[in-house]
Amino acid sequence: MPEPFAGTVRAARADDLPSMRTLLQDSALPVEGVDAHVQAFLVAEHEGTLFGMVGLEHYGDAALLRSLVVHERARGSGLGAQLVHAVETAAARDGVRTLVLLTTTAAAWFPRFGFVTTTREAVPASVTASVEFRGACPASATVMQKALHAR
Ligand SMILES: CC(C)(COP(=O)(O)OP(=O)(O)OC[C@H]1O[C@@H](n2cnc3c(N)ncnc32)[C@H](O)[C@@H]1OP(=O)(O)O)[C@@H](O)C(=O)NCCC(=O)NCCS
Repeated sequence: MPEPFAGTVRAARADDLPSMRTLLQDSALPVEGVDAHVQAFLVAEHEGTLFGMVGLEHYGDAALLRSLVVHERARGSGLGAQLVHAVETAAARDGVRTLVLLTTTAAAWFPRFGFVTTTREAVPASVTASVEFRGACPASATVMQKALHAR
């Protein structure tokens, strides 16, 4: 069992992009839209190395949680949970009421944070217009959502 993650979670910067792309590609997650929206991502850094990231795309009062990934070496350290909590806090602060995500690999993991499986038809139309819904993520991906309360 790895030690708890000892680094910091902070806003991503343009100079993080090469490491962010590598993190995503190593876990076979889509990189579309990352370069153009780097300010919409949080990264987890420890001693100059990125160990994880997560992104938030806003669509009205809904948002898409995307590109959540933890480097293989840091998995099981609680970093994934830390990133979910950080992005939820940011979303609630921004007035997001519904968080939506697509996953092919972690549908059994997100319920611990209150996400429930839903259908593409049931999520806000603004979110289904996103690049992930329109093709970057496979049609077979599980759709999950969570209602947030204003903070
Ligand atoms: C999913 C992911 C972000 C979890 O990160 P992490 O840092 O290992 O998560 P945590 O340390 O907070 O949680 C570990 C716990 O989650 C469980 N878990 C981790 N990944 C899981 C998965 N894909 N499905 C089910 N459970 C999972 C672990 O077994 C462990 O369980 P325990 O608390 O009962 O011991 C990471 O495995 C990852 O990057 N996976 C590849 C990319 C991915 O699937 N992203 C999410 C979809 S967009």
